[in-house]
Amino acid sequence: MSSVTSPLVAFATALALSLMGCDQQPLEVAPAGAASATETAVGPIPGSGQPLPVRSNPYAGNPTAANEGYQFFSWYNCSGCHGVHGGGGMGPSLRDPVWIYGGSPDQVFASISEGRSNGMPSWGTKIPEQQIWKIVAYIKTINTPSEIDPPTMPLATQQAHEASGNPPASPPPAPQP
Ligand code: HEC
Repeated sequence: MSSVTSPLVAFATALALSLMGCDQQPLEVAPAGAASATETAVGPIPGSGQPLPVRSNPYAGNPTAANEGYQFFSWYNCSGCHGVHGGGGMGPSLRDPVWIYGGSPDQVFASISEGRSNGMPSWGTKIPEQQIWKIVAYIKTINTPSEIDPPTMPLATQQAHEASGNPPASPPPAPQP
């Protein structure tokens, strides 16, 4: 055993001694307030100094994209937290006029992509950007005449019916072509 460790110990000791023994320059301390001897360029400051351009939705007003967005909304189970038709649940309503983080398309995109602190997961690494924009396109149709699959009755009534196990009183919507 000692035949294995002793060369190692010897080496480590030699290394430590050589490190300690190297020429040590005395530390030069500039007097307080002295100007820097060299002008150090800080380098370019990131960004243009202008506010970031607002990104616009490439699918704004595109009903086909909004329809796909509606499907993604249920495929990715956004509806599990935000309710079918975005009426709200564990997550806030996307139908009411209140936007915690702003309701412009780029703000809604950011909420989805980056997530929000009080329980909104970040989807940016899971959902391709184009699909997120389609979901935004769908969300922006909510409460407009072009809403995809609008609720057939006030959501509170519909949810009360579903909670009681009774089918809604009104007939289901006609199948879309
Ligand atoms: C696990 C539950 C959950 C899921 C799944 C979920 N969300 Fe959320 N979402 C939340 C919560 C909770 C908030 C509120 C976060 C906060 O207040 O910080 C939120 C906030 C948001 C907001 C911001 C609302 C505002 O008022 O500014 C948007 C937009 C949104 N979610 C869209 C989506 C979309 C689209 C999906 C599907 C891709 C989704 N969410 C999936 C829980 C969820």
